[in-house]
Amino acid sequence: MNTQTQPPGARASTRSVPSQSPGEFCSTELPRDPCSIIILGATGDLTARKLLPALYDLFRLDFLPDPFLIVGCGRTSWDDETFRHRMRAAVENKGPLDGRKWERFASRLFYQPVDYRLPESFARLAHALRELDRRHGTGGNRIFYVALPPGLYLPVASGIGAAGLAAERENGNGWIRFVVEKPFGRDLASAEALDRGLHVHFKERQIFRIDHYLAKETVQNVLVFRFANAIFEPIWNRRYIDHVVITAAETLGVEHRAGYYEQAGVLRDMFQNHMMQLLALTAMEPPSIFEPDRVRDERGKVFRSLRPFDIGSLDRHLVLGQYAAGGLAGRPVPGYRQEPGVAPDSVVPTFAMMKTYVENWRWQGVPFYLASGKRLARKITEIAIQFKAVPLSMFRHSLGAHIPPNRLTLSVYPEERITLTFQTKDPGARVCLRSVTMDFNYQQNGHGPVLDAYEKVLLDCMTGDQMLFWRQDGVEACWAYLTPILERCEACGDRGNGLHFYAAGSWGPEVLQDLLSERSVHTNQIPWGTPQRKDIP
Ligand code: BG6
Repeated sequence: MNTQTQPPGARASTRSVPSQSPGEFCSTELPRDPCSIIILGATGDLTARKLLPALYDLFRLDFLPDPFLIVGCGRTSWDDETFRHRMRAAVENKGPLDGRKWERFASRLFYQPVDYRLPESFARLAHALRELDRRHGTGGNRIFYVALPPGLYLPVASGIGAAGLAAERENGNGWIRFVVEKPFGRDLASAEALDRGLHVHFKERQIFRIDHYLAKETVQNVLVFRFANAIFEPIWNRRYIDHVVITAAETLGVEHRAGYYEQAGVLRDMFQNHMMQLLALTAMEPPSIFEPDRVRDERGKVFRSLRPFDIGSLDRHLVLGQYAAGGLAGRPVPGYRQEPGVAPDSVVPTFAMMKTYVENWRWQGVPFYLASGKRLARKITEIAIQFKAVPLSMFRHSLGAHIPPNRLTLSVYPEERITLTFQTKDPGARVCLRSVTMDFNYQQNGHGPVLDAYEKVLLDCMTGDQMLFWRQDGVEACWAYLTPILERCEACGDRGNGLHFYAAGSWGPEVLQDLLSERSVHTNQIPWGTPQRKDIP
């Protein structure tokens, strides 16, 4: 597999917006090359909820190149005006828009009906794109953004390839990029097959596999925090860290995505991608330089160092759950099996907590607990680093032997902040300990606009920067790790074994305590493993 991903000169096709604060080493890399973004699946949910609002916002900030066109494609027979009208409604859904700006933005929106299984349909698209290039001077630079179900990735790639739209021009003027969302396959074999199919038409450097978690501001900050400060790295290892808890808890249920989720479940939906990337950023070694392939090499080494699960004793390392009816924000909510489109006897997990180990010198023996689930009590995304307790409490006669260990929390949601808890003396005549928290809010004193994850991802596609995207070797390493687990779970899942129900609005299944028993696992905000509310009606 080819891991060469940077096209020659890709980083040169950017312009920089310097930070407003003199003396800071900061600038926003903005795309300079004119281009078109062709959204396949333009009538769908992702386009309306994420892509168009993000593109409009980038336009509003003057971050898009000029000229820049958006060509929506879909099976529905809309015309340009219908597309513009629908997209205006989608953007307005997010908040008020500036009418004059919108008119300028809308004049760059076009629509082309495409039937993804018909070669002649792609031939018509090719003709339309050449015509738009000629009229608007977009120079043949194109991003094909596939906002479609995964079953269509290969037909679309083949259609684009067969219509002669995939090949970049020899002289380097005119680049083509192909952007796909997860899931990249549903196990190791299908991920390899998908990759082989995409590489028939595209080179690795043309393929952008999105993980929107990597583009979140505070997630990007993990590497800066670890490697731009000298004080954390010396203690970032098994000698000082007891365990790590990585959480992505959601209050949302399956919503309208049962068709997809019934096939995916939480392990494919959240673990194979987002959770693995959070783990990699927490555990990876510093690359010698902050460049896309060097960073992705280091992330990949973490995936390859994961200790394979002992499939025979899976329940000692993995708890799977499914939400039953319960209550959230004071209102009753149905269980997963009662959601529209979900089989009444579904055994698809909506919650997982996994205890995993990174087998290298730095992390030997340190458990990483990864937890994610739907319909939990609160939406929280965070990485909690629990340090070891002091080796000996000199206060043991007065305070007892236990002194709560330090904890560092990198919070991604609901607040972007970093907190460190430590012990101080409570004011007064007696020596009493008090846990206090040092708190840094990420938004505090920030300069420049904070980009939403999709805005960042789209900008990086335009500049050709693959730092925040998956490379195929990483995808395959994660599937190699997870596939035996999935196969095992699915084999017993048919009988519903090993699936624990939890009330919607709780903190997951009660049996978590067994998984956590050997460690006193806490985070600042989540009472993992403490007795649950019993409110399953
Ligand atoms: C998506 C998953 O990738 O991430 C969803 O498919 C999940 O099921 C979502 O809800 C969570 O993302 P965020 O940014 O809201 O934490």
